[in-house]
Amino acid sequence: MNSFGGNWTYQKIKIIEDYAKAYLQIMKNRPYWKLMYFDGFAGSGDINIDGALDSKVIEGAAKKIVAIKEPKIFDICYFVELDKQKAKNLQQSLHQIRKAGVFVVEDDCNRKLKNMSHFLKSEKGKNHKVLAFIDPCGMEVDWASIECLKGLSIDMWILIPTGIGVNRMLTKNHKISEAWWAKLEAFFGISREILDHDFYTFYEVPTLFGDNQKIFKKNNGIKMIEHIYLQRLNEVFDFVSKPYILKNKNNSIMFHFVLASNNQVAINIANDLVKRLNYS
Ligand SMILES: C[S@@+](CC[C@H](N)C(=O)[O-])C[C@H]1O[C@@H](n2cnc3c(N)ncnc32)[C@H](O)[C@@H]1O
Repeated sequence: MNSFGGNWTYQKIKIIEDYAKAYLQIMKNRPYWKLMYFDGFAGSGDINIDGALDSKVIEGAAKKIVAIKEPKIFDICYFVELDKQKAKNLQQSLHQIRKAGVFVVEDDCNRKLKNMSHFLKSEKGKNHKVLAFIDPCGMEVDWASIECLKGLSIDMWILIPTGIGVNRMLTKNHKISEAWWAKLEAFFGISREILDHDFYTFYEVPTLFGDNQKIFKKNNGIKMIEHIYLQRLNEVFDFVSKPYILKNKNNSIMFHFVLASNNQVAINIANDLVKRLNYS
């Protein structure tokens, strides 16, 4: 079972569920389209919410989506989960709700996003529309997997680890290992030279024995990560919604959750959902 905490887990699932219902309502009268729900980080079906004094189990997003019958169902529900046992548990519990058109694959989301983009570009896939939910724990999504979605009929909700993953890798003292630089480059699809320039200030300090370089991390790292990632999304999708900001109990930002889409109506719906939660 997946285990994590916070009110934001409920809210994130509520957003995707409410959005899916609004999406299906609009698509109800457009029978030409085959509707696919793609969940790239599907989990095990249930989530263990860790509280300060107790913990409880809630249904994950996959179960909520497969259970939707009104205004209509998704023709295909495709779930990707890397962990073998979680994928097995998920399949068992989803098939108790619905079997036809519900697929669970044990695989890497990055690979499946690329497979999906090939499918949607093919003759067979061109009458399909996708609602995607990309809900990683950290920095598992490579930019190359998002980039290949350009121009396709996809509405994609994505959780961006602005506060927990990326900002921690961009260390204050600029001591960043080769492995971390490689991860940051894959995540943003941007070279380290440009990232260096965006996040750090370099000063040459004259000393008796020549210049000495001092490096400072710029303020507002999380804001800059948000800005750069949303700008990148905007290069692939025509529109990006306002973010739902997920904070921990110390009020520190952990993630930004946004919708990227080529459809302005989709963004309007997302902005309404986000606005309600950000100020609730
Ligand atoms: C935040 S949880 C998802 C929770 C789920 N959306 C829900 O509502 O229950 C992330 C899940 O992604 C899985 N995972 C991690 N890396 C992955 C990858 N590269 N591809 C697919 N799944 C992955 C983890 O095993 C974990 O179950």
